[in-house]
Amino acid sequence: MGGEGCWLLILAALGGILREGEFYEGYDETSGVAMKHDKGQSDSVESRHLRSCEAPVEEWKAEPVALVIFGGAGDLGKRMLLPTLFTLYREKKLSADSCIVGAGRREMSDEEYRGLVRRSLDDFRREVAGQDDVEAFCRRVFYLRADVRSEETYKQLCRRIAQISSESPIEGLIYYLAVPSSLIQPIIEGLFGRGLCAGSLEPKVVIEKPFGSDKASALRLNELILKHLKESQVYRIDHYLGKETVQNILFFRFGNSIFEPLWNRRYIDHVQITVAEDIGIESRGEFYDTAGVVRDIVQNHIMQLIGFVAMEPPSGFEANLVRDEKVKVFRAIRPMSDEYIDSFMVRGQYGPGEIGGEAVCGYRDERNVAGGSNTPTFFAGKFLIDNWRWANVPFYVRTGKRLSRRVTEICVVFKQPPLRLLGRTCDIIEPNSLVLSIQPTEEMSLQLNVKKPGGGNEPYAINMNFDYAKSFEVKTRPAYERLLLDCLNGDLTLFARSDEVEAMWEVVDPIVSRWEIASGRDFPNYDAGSDGPRESGALMKADGRKWRRI
Ligand SMILES: NC(=O)c1ccc[n+]([C@@H]2O[C@H](COP(=O)([O-])OP(=O)(O)OC[C@H]3O[C@@H](n4cnc5c(N)ncnc54)[C@H](OP(=O)(O)O)[C@@H]3O)[C@@H](O)[C@H]2O)c1
Repeated sequence: MGGEGCWLLILAALGGILREGEFYEGYDETSGVAMKHDKGQSDSVESRHLRSCEAPVEEWKAEPVALVIFGGAGDLGKRMLLPTLFTLYREKKLSADSCIVGAGRREMSDEEYRGLVRRSLDDFRREVAGQDDVEAFCRRVFYLRADVRSEETYKQLCRRIAQISSESPIEGLIYYLAVPSSLIQPIIEGLFGRGLCAGSLEPKVVIEKPFGSDKASALRLNELILKHLKESQVYRIDHYLGKETVQNILFFRFGNSIFEPLWNRRYIDHVQITVAEDIGIESRGEFYDTAGVVRDIVQNHIMQLIGFVAMEPPSGFEANLVRDEKVKVFRAIRPMSDEYIDSFMVRGQYGPGEIGGEAVCGYRDERNVAGGSNTPTFFAGKFLIDNWRWANVPFYVRTGKRLSRRVTEICVVFKQPPLRLLGRTCDIIEPNSLVLSIQPTEEMSLQLNVKKPGGGNEPYAINMNFDYAKSFEVKTRPAYERLLLDCLNGDLTLFARSDEVEAMWEVVDPIVSRWEIASGRDFPNYDAGSDGPRESGALMKADGRKWRRI
């Protein structure tokens, strides 16, 4: 049966469960059409944080801003930020009077930087655009040679901003820190030292992940930043939160009334989260070899996914209300002792192998990686959330580089029916499961059991699918577009708050420390192109469960 047909059937069936008389006639004033409403709706209450439905939706007003990108000629700048800003500029979401100042170590004139911008747009922009648009955009782009540890840099930046804004006034100032995390502190100190974060423009600071390298360093960084800025000026970015399907977890949970009653320890057996990559560490050897998989992926992306799946309904869809609920989840994750880590956490490092028919090297042979490195590139583990909703429901998590396929998904596995009523005794009923796929496909799929046609009583598992691209026939906005737009608009909902970042570090710090002290003796322990080390499967098997196929 077609996916949407199936969803309709379920909704119709649920509608049928309501007894007659539970509907009342209504009248749609706009269309003049008579309608039926569920009586329950008349009891539903608007969050007191929600604007009245009658209020007109606010018009987007793009104000001219100066956007300074530290690391404006780096990989992130070229691949993501410049093409994204160009898209927003073309869509008039970024005012045409805005200016972009790229800052970096190398010597470059404005004109040379504009050449880099043109090449970046040629290679990475997602739309077809005329040369006139490209040239108009480039005229608003400037370059500053910057040594972030030198006071002179900030003096020059001051002058540059004053000069540009005297020609066309700006109404906002954003500093985007697209640099290695060790440079965040000197940049923040440099900006504060020159008063570049003060003033009526209330500058915003966007900080890339990773934010610190453990809880202590994140705390220090937060203290430094919040000495001079309000929390509302700080945008700690994790691009996962900009993905439509990640945000859709909240819409799915809180926009439907049929799943939330099941969303707890009574009906859910366990949750699986997979963030598998088929790529290796590419040019990030220097960073990766000191960070490893836990700091790179678990502390941020995976914690955020756990937060969205496990959080309580917030009392409104506002930044702090949503962030409050996520922090409560992180604080409820059971602290891990060394024994717990040794028993329920698995690490791995890839050796050579084959992916997509191509031979690839092992981690230790990657560029800028130490020959005998013990840095883990794979993680699997069991997290327990000790609160009323999730007590004893394991959240199994796995992530790794050079796995067989690129896939990010959350699978919520429901409990088995209480009685084996159907089929012969040897029939196996697959538990219901709900899969929220985040990449490469953006879809949801609910697995149900039906009767297989024929004489016997054979249960058969089917999938009902909802595919974002097919249903909406539009491409979803890339994560960076959404997040930069939110930043321009001052919406912090999809950015991490200081206490949130610290709480996420608090969860993973014991794992990092344990593994730094007791380093992996058996590395490499999985082949590139496989599904990770054998112990990852054994972790599930010990609990009588199994991973979904990657
Ligand atoms: N690349 C991605 O896809 C990606 C994704 C998510 C998060 N991030 C995060 O984004 C940040 C930047 O990553 P990246 O991949 O763009 O790194 P990158 O390619 O190495 O670029 C680093 C940039 O920082 C500049 N820089 C380094 N030291 C400097 C100094 N002392 N003074 C002034 N500028 C200096 C470099 O200037 P030059 O241009 O002159 O060398 C370069 O523009 C990192 O925190 C990373 O974790 C990156």
